[in-house]
Amino acid sequence: MRKAIVYASVHHGNTEKLVKRIAEECQVDLIDTVKQQKADLSDYDMIGFASGIYYSKFHQSILKFAERNLPEDKKVFLICTYGGSENYKSIEQTLKKKHASVIGKFGCKGYDTFGPFKLVGGIAKGHPNEEDMKNAVDFVKGLH
Ligand SMILES: Cc1cc2nc3c(=O)[nH]c(=O)nc-3n(C[C@H](O)[C@H](O)[C@H](O)COP(=O)(O)O)c2cc1C
Repeated sequence: MRKAIVYASVHHGNTEKLVKRIAEECQVDLIDTVKQQKADLSDYDMIGFASGIYYSKFHQSILKFAERNLPEDKKVFLICTYGGSENYKSIEQTLKKKHASVIGKFGCKGYDTFGPFKLVGGIAKGHPNEEDMKNAVDFVKGLH
């Protein structure tokens, strides 16, 4: 069962922290869409898309990457970190066009100092924490 996680993490590296822990404990290949815009995903049985939430959306580089590289009819799972609330709509719209089936979603808080939150020292400080990372690993291990 080959798995990949395609991710973008541009604010505090919150999402990267999570996916790197997953990669340490599960067999997955990581693809950073900020550095890599193309990949052949045809051999993967499951593909994860992981991102911070920016203006209620997954990162633009993830959306573009999925649009360009995701083959039709794949099994897909979604992971996000967020300051306020999780939101999968943007990526789900793209996935619909590719007839992907979403087999699971996982979200947790991620340290956020965007805009006014900077003035108060940020929100969700310390997240993702150990428990968040353990939950994320369990989530990926439980996918089939
Ligand atoms: C430009 C910008 C916009 C953001 N917009 C949202 C948002 O709409 N909703 C939300 O819950 N968090 C929002 N956040 C907080 C991030 O989703 C959160 O900090 C996330 O963990 C960042 O992940 P990263 O460190 O992997 O980039 C925003 C952060 C930035 C920098």
